[in-house]
Amino acid sequence: MFLEQVACAKSSLAYLFGCAGQGLAIAVDVHAGDEATFMTMAEQRGVRIRYVIDTHIHADHVSGGRRLAELAGAEYGLHDSDQGLPFEFLPLGDGQILRVGNVSAQVIHTPGHTDDSICLAVTDHSRGDAPWFMLTGHTLFVGGVGRPDLHGRATEMAEKLYDSIFGRILSQPDYLEILPGAQAGSVCGGGISGKPCSTIGFEKKFNRSLIGKREDFVAQVRDAVLPEVEEMQMIVRANTGRAM
Ligand SMILES: [Fe+2]
Repeated sequence: MFLEQVACAKSSLAYLFGCAGQGLAIAVDVHAGDEATFMTMAEQRGVRIRYVIDTHIHADHVSGGRRLAELAGAEYGLHDSDQGLPFEFLPLGDGQILRVGNVSAQVIHTPGHTDDSICLAVTDHSRGDAPWFMLTGHTLFVGGVGRPDLHGRATEMAEKLYDSIFGRILSQPDYLEILPGAQAGSVCGGGISGKPCSTIGFEKKFNRSLIGKREDFVAQVRDAVLPEVEEMQMIVRANTGRAM
């Protein structure tokens, strides 16, 4: 398999990964304006982008996902809770597996930062039948977690975030690598490291947001004071095709 992590504007991290042998790839969390870069990356590797995924409807940057999917002849995927948006997309259900050659990405629904947040557990079947890394979107960062307050209902969303992180992510093996959707400087979470990757085991031990007692986690995450997201209304309108 191959994997590329791309540092983008607004401290975001996007990804291109897949199977070089069979020439198929998946792109994740691509910004508007970066579509040509991803097309060039795919061309240089001799792969065709089969799926373009956004780990959630972003509020901090305009997505290039739909445009890249058009250019590449790929399917654009979002979690199936986004159904009803005024454009066609591949609705991704919890547990669904996207296969590109020897590589697969399993969808894990992890609401909390947003209702539609997903992670992707990625397996290289030429190495083994268990996931090697997880793209954690804006659910779990290196050193932090996704903020739950962007669309209101902060307490309820912080509770969902707890269940997603502790129930669906930290239950994975300690050796599993995590590759988040943003690094230090992002407004989508607090305490985020400038190191763009980690492991489940390291985060369990040293991520200060991961307080095991549910009510303490909820209170800390809900009450964290984070900067406002600039131009959020415009960005969400662009990413959903409708007003908030
Ligand atoms: Fe986000």
